[in-house]
Amino acid sequence: MLMEQPVGGHILVIDSGIGGLGVLSQLQKRLPKTRFSYVADEAFFPYGKLDDETLCMRCADIARKFDDVGCVVIACNTASTVVLPHMRDEFDFPIVGIVPAIKVAARNTKTKAFGILATEATAKGKYLSSMIDEFAGDCIVKLHGSKNLARLAEQKLNGSRVLIADVEKEIRPLFTSMRFKETKRIDHVVLGCTHYPFLLAELKQAAPYEVVWIDPAEAVAKRVLNVFKPAADADSKGRSRYYTTAENSHYKVRNIEFEQLKF
Ligand code: DGL
Repeated sequence: MLMEQPVGGHILVIDSGIGGLGVLSQLQKRLPKTRFSYVADEAFFPYGKLDDETLCMRCADIARKFDDVGCVVIACNTASTVVLPHMRDEFDFPIVGIVPAIKVAARNTKTKAFGILATEATAKGKYLSSMIDEFAGDCIVKLHGSKNLARLAEQKLNGSRVLIADVEKEIRPLFTSMRFKETKRIDHVVLGCTHYPFLLAELKQAAPYEVVWIDPAEAVAKRVLNVFKPAADADSKGRSRYYTTAENSHYKVRNIEFEQLKF
C-alpha cells in the first residue's frame, strides 16, 4: 500500500523483547517529529515458543491497547512470518513487518553461498523456505535456527557479559558443513531476528572467517516511510514511550524507562 496523503496518529512498534529497539532507532532517525510507542512483550518472550494462534491474538491484543495509531511495525521476524495477514484483516492502519533480507544476500553474494541466522521458529517456517526458493534459487543457502542467541542479546542489552564461546556455539552450524569447499564459503549472513544486530561485535569475533552481516532494520524503516506520512502539523517533538508487559521487569537498557503495559 502506498500512501500519498499524510496520516495522523503515532507509530506502535512491537517485539517480544528489546530486539526491535534497533528498528525503532532507524525510524526515529527518519521521523524525528513522530511519536512512537515501543512494546517489549517481555511476559511472552520468546515469541518462537508460542503457537501461531496465540501469537496472532497476542499482537492484536497489544495493538488494541493503544489509541491514535497511524501504523504498527511488527519489529520481530518470528511474529512477522505469522501475524501479518491476521493483523491486516483486523486493523485499518498499515501493518509493516520485517522479513530476513534474503533478496539482498542473493544479489550481493560473490560465492553464491550465504547463511541465514534466525530463531528456531522462523527457520522452521514455510514462509522462509518459500522466500529462499523464490529469491535464492541459484545460491547455496545455509539456514540455521539458533536456540539461545535472542536470549543472549537480551542479556547483553541488560548489561550482562556475553561469552564469545556461547555465541560461537550458536552459529557454528552455519560455518561447518562438509558440503562446503573453500570456494563455496558463505560470504554473507542474513540476520533473521531483530535481536541479533545487538550482538554484531560478538558475532564477528565468533565467526571463523569474515562475512558481511546483513541487518534489515534500515529497509524496514524505509518501508514505513512508504506507508506512513506524518501529518504536517505533527508536533509531538518525537516523544517516545516504552512499555514492557512483564510485571517485574529487570530491563536496564540505556537510560530507557519502561512502563508496565497492563492487560
Ligand atoms: N526479535 C524476535 C525476532 O526477530 C525475537 C525472537 C523471539 O521472540 O522468539 O525473531
